[in-house]
Amino acid sequence: MYNDLDEERIVSSFAKESENTMETDLRPRSLGEYIGQTKVKERMQIFINAAKARKKPLDHVLLYGPPGLGKTTLSHIIANELGVNIRITSGPAIGHSGDLAALLTNLNEGDVLFIDEIHRLNASVEEVLYPAMEDYALDIIIGKGPSARSLRVDLPKFTLIGATTRSGMLTNPLRDRFGIIERLEMYSVEELEQLVNRSARILGIGIDRDGAREIAGRSRGTPRIANRLLKRVRDYAETIAGEIITKDVANDALEMMEVDKLGLDGVDRNLLTALINVFKGGPVGLDTLSAATGEDPSTIEDVYEPYLMQIGFLMRTPRGRMATEAAYKHLGIRFNDEVNRAYKQMSIFTNNEDK
Ligand SMILES: Nc1ncnc2c1ncn2[C@@H]1O[C@H](COP(=O)(O)OP(=O)(O)O)[C@@H](O)[C@H]1O
Ligand SMILES: [Mg+2]
Repeated sequence: MYNDLDEERIVSSFAKESENTMETDLRPRSLGEYIGQTKVKERMQIFINAAKARKKPLDHVLLYGPPGLGKTTLSHIIANELGVNIRITSGPAIGHSGDLAALLTNLNEGDVLFIDEIHRLNASVEEVLYPAMEDYALDIIIGKGPSARSLRVDLPKFTLIGATTRSGMLTNPLRDRFGIIERLEMYSVEELEQLVNRSARILGIGIDRDGAREIAGRSRGTPRIANRLLKRVRDYAETIAGEIITKDVANDALEMMEVDKLGLDGVDRNLLTALINVFKGGPVGLDTLSAATGEDPSTIEDVYEPYLMQIGFLMRTPRGRMATEAAYKHLGIRFNDEVNRAYKQMSIFTNNEDK
């Protein structure tokens, strides 16, 4: 997904092919083991209990939020807790409405159908999904032209779980058919510290408290990144430093990999530096920023910005992107409030890009 450059980044939030087995091994299997997302877990537990008590399938669930926060993991857990099977597919993998019809007719009563990247379903497939979600039925057209007629086929009652990083790209009719919509939030350093400790235990990695905290602090609020950094630091510890990951070992390893104290890497720093040095901190339109940095606009929007906004380094305003004082500080660039304000007054008239 996205460009090869992002695939290379150690702090990329996207799943890497080579990490599939590790991800599977580290996946918690129950709500109790699932770290953080307290509110979401509480609500899901109630809905799951209610569905089981009523012996009815769980309402359709939409999970959204940035990559690596645990959407796929939570979907597996929901199926587990319901005691049903889960069938896994993704928006781009369902090319034709017939593919979806085949998936649906093969489900058992109560099963979960998980559709990852559900915002990438094509329109004709979505049409099939509507009656399936609403009435557990498929409308099949038989014949062509004037003699064509529609036949309704009943489906097993199932639960659809859709996952997306871009809920804004979902069509309204599709979104309206989900009874449960949950947004996953970035994790706190404390939660990620727990996660690092749990993963270290499972993988048999020796780590102390401060070592775990050091990795957690640089993981950009994202479990996937925390697990990856843990593994890379382990490699470093095994070959260069001692057996146990301490604060110093973690610090040295991550410094060598150019992941800074807040988990920013070269790409993040370039983006912020361009925003500050070339555009005087902004506001600047997304496309202009993209041209100046050579990064794809959607990559900036989906990959770099969510975390920069989370830590309060970047703001999206109606007039464009702006760097905050905290970003200046982190990069060691002097923040001149007066110059900035004067420039911003000016730029009301010069910057018309609404992004
Ligand atoms: N709440 C959590 N507790 C423990 N581990 C988690 C949690 N959320 C995610 N993970 C770990 O992070 C990895 C990525 O999670 P995943 O569910 O694939 O994210 P997403 O589908 O949102 O991109 C998983 O392999 C899992 O080990
Ligand atoms: Mg996923």
